[in-house]
Amino acid sequence: MISRDEHEKKINPAVQGSGWEGIRMNKGQKIKEIEALVKDYFAEESTGHDWWHCHRVRQTALHIAKEEKADLFIVEAAALLHDVGDYKFHDGDEDIGGKIIEKWLLGIAVPRKQIDLILNIVTNLSFMKSLNSPERPGKLLTVEAKIVSDADRLDALGAIGIARTFAFGGFFRQEMHNPEILPNAAITREAYKNKKSTSINHFYEKLLRLKDAMLTATGKEMAASRHAYMEAYLKRFFDEWNGRV
Ligand code: ADP
Ligand code: NI
Repeated sequence: MISRDEHEKKINPAVQGSGWEGIRMNKGQKIKEIEALVKDYFAEESTGHDWWHCHRVRQTALHIAKEEKADLFIVEAAALLHDVGDYKFHDGDEDIGGKIIEKWLLGIAVPRKQIDLILNIVTNLSFMKSLNSPERPGKLLTVEAKIVSDADRLDALGAIGIARTFAFGGFFRQEMHNPEILPNAAITREAYKNKKSTSINHFYEKLLRLKDAMLTATGKEMAASRHAYMEAYLKRFFDEWNGRV
């Protein structure tokens, strides 16, 4: 395993050598401060956007970032912050996240250049989320943004994704499965926000499409593995539902 410093010599030149001179050693401290702010912000949340989601997205994003040779600080900070101000918690205001994050980062003296890189990732992510489709304008994104996007999508897949889906379903009193309610693969954004469906349908309406929306090679590989796990799970679910095993 290479050290953070060695790794950073290989990173994206666009984010090197600007702003951090003299305060380079404080990156770990800044991350701890960001962590504390995010933990506090999500303290009361239980719909799947909790602190531990942010933590997992950070872990996954760092794993991908090491493979893809991206800037670890930018990736880690943006991953921790990516769900702050999610439109679902602020009556549809999609700009609030950027404002909160900017205030926080200025408050803990992160340099302007890094703040802009982080805001760019987080606002692009929420813009893409606001579109209904999992296909996104990936070409416009920096490698750091692609990584955070992949890490966030990955947390909706695999064993964790299955757990989150049923946790979400329980919280919103949605049925686990109802064979009389068919999945709708082409729902609009409004329908998605308001519609009553089932947790099992959510796999077909969204989760099984996510592997094609991955933006990095490492993300694609991880998604393929998590996708296969969900498919095996669904096969087993229906086998049990029909009393076959
Ligand atoms: P994100 O903000 O991570 O893109 P969402 O806010 O849509 O995703 O969802 C958070 C978690 O809740 C995810 O694991 C997602 O799969 C799950 N989820 C979202 N909508 C539903 C739903 N209608 N039924 C079951 N689970 C859902
Ligand atoms: Ni998220």
